[in-house]
Amino acid sequence: MSFPSLKNDVFIRSLLRQPVPYTPLWLMRQAGRYLPEYNQTRARAGSFMGLAQNPEYACEVTLQPLERFDLDAAILFSDILTVPHAMGLGLDFVAGEGPQFARPVRTEADVSALRVPDLSELRYVFDAVSLIRKELDGKVPLIGFAGSPFTVACYMVEGQGSDDYRLIKGMLYSRPDLLHRILEINTQATIAYLNAQIQAGAQAVMVFDSWGGVLADGLFQQFSLAYTRKVVEGLVRENDGQRVPVIVFTKGGGLWLEDIADSGCDAMGVDWTVNLAKARRRIEDRVALQGNLDPMALFGTEDAIRTEARRVIDDFGPVGLGGHVFNLGHGISRFTPPEAVGILVDEVHSYSRRNH
Ligand code: CP3
Repeated sequence: MSFPSLKNDVFIRSLLRQPVPYTPLWLMRQAGRYLPEYNQTRARAGSFMGLAQNPEYACEVTLQPLERFDLDAAILFSDILTVPHAMGLGLDFVAGEGPQFARPVRTEADVSALRVPDLSELRYVFDAVSLIRKELDGKVPLIGFAGSPFTVACYMVEGQGSDDYRLIKGMLYSRPDLLHRILEINTQATIAYLNAQIQAGAQAVMVFDSWGGVLADGLFQQFSLAYTRKVVEGLVRENDGQRVPVIVFTKGGGLWLEDIADSGCDAMGVDWTVNLAKARRRIEDRVALQGNLDPMALFGTEDAIRTEARRVIDDFGPVGLGGHVFNLGHGISRFTPPEAVGILVDEVHSYSRRNH
């Protein structure tokens, strides 16, 4: 497939640690409920899945934050749970309660029945990727994504979000063989899913390990990172003559930066508990860094937003050689005032240009 050439490649350059004129930024969950126009489209679609499974709607909401803000990347509008949905688990987003599966995976029989889904079940995602690429017309790069095998397994076993991860950890400590089997299937599914997104036009991909950080040291490496590494190893890293950078984000991964940096990724996403200067020293600049403003800083005064943004940029250090993509340390809150995002984007761009 061929698409218009890229007008703003600062995000890709920074991920590859090449010189940049300023620090690029995008925000996790930049298309979401803090934007009134998102809520309007979602109402028209009828439900979250109605939105995600319709390429025209998915394209529309992907582009919404870019119309308001001067962001340096777009991220596919979809969800990490489309993959287990395609495995037949029956995903539903219950208003106010988040995602739920009708058929969670808990017993030996459930695990035996689990299969890598046919990619045709996820066709709507790849169609959305190609449509978004076309509509972006080369304005900024498009990021594709998936959950890590462990993070997706959390939802598959728990059946929904969890405070204590009792069911999946119960499985880990009683039948680790069953959990390894789920993780292996998720890994194969995720490789195929991300490669198909790349094939359809995704110019960078991100693996969200949102819940790896709930595991004990040692078990994180064994049950989460080992599978994320397999995913990274299985990805096509070049498309259309362009390198496709891979970002691995582990929320709560601050203890394991060295291990994560060795996963084969080009860039590591870090949450707000990490200091970027210390992180760079620990990983000796082997990979680029993405992050890491506390999403709640967007509830501060304009001054505080600007000060905190500068702090993140200064912690990383000189801008010009690339290697830093500004982001939040986790997804933007649905209660964020959109004006706060405008202030953040302005500060990151203007301050990093001045301190270039
Ligand atoms: O970043 C973006 O703008 C792209 C879209 C995106 C969504 N989900 C849309 C979404 C991305 C990258 C995700 C990833 C995702 N989904 C993760 C990993 C990132 C993270 O936040 O740690 C996880 C854990 C999920 C699972 C998920 N999907 C949950 C827990 C929820 C409920 C969250 C909530 O705040 O209620 C969702 C739903 C969801 N996915 C929403 C959006 C915009 C809100 C749903 C709505 O409109 O009702």
